[in-house]
Amino acid sequence: MRIIEVPLEERSYPIYIGHEMWSSLSAVLKQRLTAKKALLISDENVFPLYGAKTAAALKEAGFSVSSAVVPAGEESKSLAQAESLYTKAIEARLSRQDVVVALGGGVIGDLAGFIAATYLRGVSFVQIPTSLLAQVDSSVGGKVAVNHALGKNLIGTFYQPRLVWIDLAVLDTLPRREFLAGAAEVVKYGIISSEPLFQTLEKRWDDFLAKDLEVLGEVIATCCNVKAEIVRQDEKEKGIRALLNFGHTLGHALETATNYTYYLHGEAVLVGMVLAVHLAVSEELIDLQTAGRMLALLKGGGLKKAPSDLTVEQVLTAMQQDKKRQADKIVFVLPVQIGSGQTYTTLSEHEITEIVKKYLRWPESLLQIDYII
Ligand SMILES: NC(=O)c1ccc[n+]([C@@H]2O[C@H](COP(=O)([O-])OP(=O)(O)OC[C@H]3O[C@@H](n4cnc5c(N)ncnc54)[C@H](O)[C@@H]3O)[C@@H](O)[C@H]2O)c1
Ligand SMILES: [Zn+2]
Repeated sequence: MRIIEVPLEERSYPIYIGHEMWSSLSAVLKQRLTAKKALLISDENVFPLYGAKTAAALKEAGFSVSSAVVPAGEESKSLAQAESLYTKAIEARLSRQDVVVALGGGVIGDLAGFIAATYLRGVSFVQIPTSLLAQVDSSVGGKVAVNHALGKNLIGTFYQPRLVWIDLAVLDTLPRREFLAGAAEVVKYGIISSEPLFQTLEKRWDDFLAKDLEVLGEVIATCCNVKAEIVRQDEKEKGIRALLNFGHTLGHALETATNYTYYLHGEAVLVGMVLAVHLAVSEELIDLQTAGRMLALLKGGGLKKAPSDLTVEQVLTAMQQDKKRQADKIVFVLPVQIGSGQTYTTLSEHEITEIVKKYLRWPESLLQIDYII
């Protein structure tokens, strides 16, 4: 088992990473928490698979356990769902000393974390992420939120968990499409923050996709290390944490313009990263050889075509509305070399329009670097 520390002074916490480690969970919970009761929150896909094992570990640690299972999917990240979970917590007589445990993907982590942050002004929180995206990204760093009808993640806060428990074995049941979407965020870390990770992915991509345990463990641990370091430096996203938005400016725009029904988050981010690599080339931030290596890796994640009725105007309008804009500027994160990126606010609307048009018309051409020469 590997243990990675997220160093945030009194809010520091460990991330445990290993394979089939259910038998160790209760000892760790007992050691790290003083709670008497646990509210276990999960979704309808994950609970039948891992709910009993988690509840057993919680009971073995001495907690009495109540479970709340919500429908799978983004719709559950709502204030209405939060309200019914508060009711559960009150009915279970959860007190300030008790704990909320998230068992699931990023939807459950964000929702349960929001409950933990707000119920009784905050109770302890444990993350047991079960999707690749949640294991490498959403379970670490403390962003918790629910959606509003007018936009995603608009209601939330920063609230760090007490521990994160990453069992690689749960990825066996994760649908392949979801695994690939999580892999896009992994590639993101490689391009923007870690050259060694990039090289590992270049060499071992097929093994990674085949969930080779050695590669999977190393890759997930590196992603958690990268995220932990970025969060340590900039917990509340006032600076460097914004680099993690690489691929997300256009990615979010694509998700919004298609009403969150066409792309998985990681699929849209992968498109956004491909377009950002091209923008970095045209801004002369990276050379063609570097861009070629980045695009080759991104190609392995599978570039999804746009729906045939999506227009450039719809994508640009969605981008203008993004909450992460700075004043009237659209912020892009562009790679400057392998393992490093920077925020960029001076791209012209013309440049952005042209690259989005190319994606809508000839997506495959964007994976070949000779196209831009
Ligand atoms: N807090 C953050 O920093 C942060 C960062 C990135 C994304 N997010 C949020 O994360 C959410 C997306 O997370 P996600 O991609 O994990 O989506 P998700 O939670 O909807 O999980 C994806 C699907 O996989 C299923 N699933 C999860 N683990 C499984 C397993 N082991 N076996 C079988 N099925 C499994 C789920 O039931 C769901 O159907 C979004 O709401 C996004 O806003 C948050
Ligand atoms: Zn993301």
